[in-house]
Amino acid sequence: MTTDFARKDRTAFDLSGKVVVVVGGGQMPGDTVGNGRATALLAARHGAEVVAVDLNLASAQETVDLIAADGGKAYAVHADVSKKEDCQRIFDEVMERSGRVDGMVYSVAVNPPFDFENNSMETEAFNYGINVNMLGAYYCNLYAAACMEKNPGPSTGSIVNFSSIASLKNEIGLNIGIMPYALGKCGLNYITELTAVQFAAAGVRANTLMLGPIDSTLGNHDSQELFGHTPEEVDEVYSEVVKLKMGRASTWETAYAALYLLADESRFMTGQQIRLDGGAALVR
Ligand SMILES: NC(=O)c1ccc[n+]([C@@H]2O[C@H](COP(=O)([O-])OP(=O)(O)OC[C@H]3O[C@@H](n4cnc5c(N)ncnc54)[C@H](O)[C@@H]3O)[C@@H](O)[C@H]2O)c1
Repeated sequence: MTTDFARKDRTAFDLSGKVVVVVGGGQMPGDTVGNGRATALLAARHGAEVVAVDLNLASAQETVDLIAADGGKAYAVHADVSKKEDCQRIFDEVMERSGRVDGMVYSVAVNPPFDFENNSMETEAFNYGINVNMLGAYYCNLYAAACMEKNPGPSTGSIVNFSSIASLKNEIGLNIGIMPYALGKCGLNYITELTAVQFAAAGVRANTLMLGPIDSTLGNHDSQELFGHTPEEVDEVYSEVVKLKMGRASTWETAYAALYLLADESRFMTGQQIRLDGGAALVR
């Protein structure tokens, strides 16, 4: 067995003929591959046409270029998911250009800046965090499902929302810095269930992939901003958090789980919160 999950010849499911929209399909600039980008690359490698959506258009375009270099098909769309009209426009553009939406992955999240010393955050920053982490997810779920239900056949579409175990339990207590993220992810879990219930009859599924510590540039950056951990300390700290000592996952492991949820093979799976956390939420 190999754990080289980035290997290009490694395939699992068949997504050919599907259009998969990855919201947050760019990534924070840095050395490691983001969860959204890894999912976009893997979906394309398995035959899907991918739409990489991001506030950072250059980064979404980078994902598209990587997919093209891999022999896949993709294009980029610029959007700010804190704006309802942008969320709607994403799906209008995809319907116009590709004619269908089969998969939607919501891989956007922000931790707004705050005053660590005084445990305070500007209301505007707090609201922006909630708008991106939760309200944007709500609109993207709603507009994606509205497109998916138009697809013919019994299995019309799959939504995968990237949540976090921060929505389950937090050891840092009433720290305002984590609130827009943790509350946003709690809302995202709930939105997923509502989407699953509302659209089941139309053949649309929705699941959350509840991630634990994943080695992404954003994850490392936020660990430093929120908790003051240096990049060197992060692995050590997380091996304390993940009591089962499974360390951290790579974003490719996120992407393979998402791939399963996007594929028809997971047709009977909906409304679930699937933890990909090395057992972190079991023993804390
Ligand atoms: N890395 C981890 O340890 C970890 C843990 C749990 C959950 N997650 C989740 O995984 C997802 C991806 O995170 P990542 O760590 O891979 O980082 P990432 O940098 O790959 O993803 C975040 C992306 O969101 C984009 N974005 C930010 N604000 C936006 C806006 N207003 N409109 C549109 N796009 C916007 C960024 O430009 C970036 O490309 C997030 O939902 C995050 O909560 C990550």
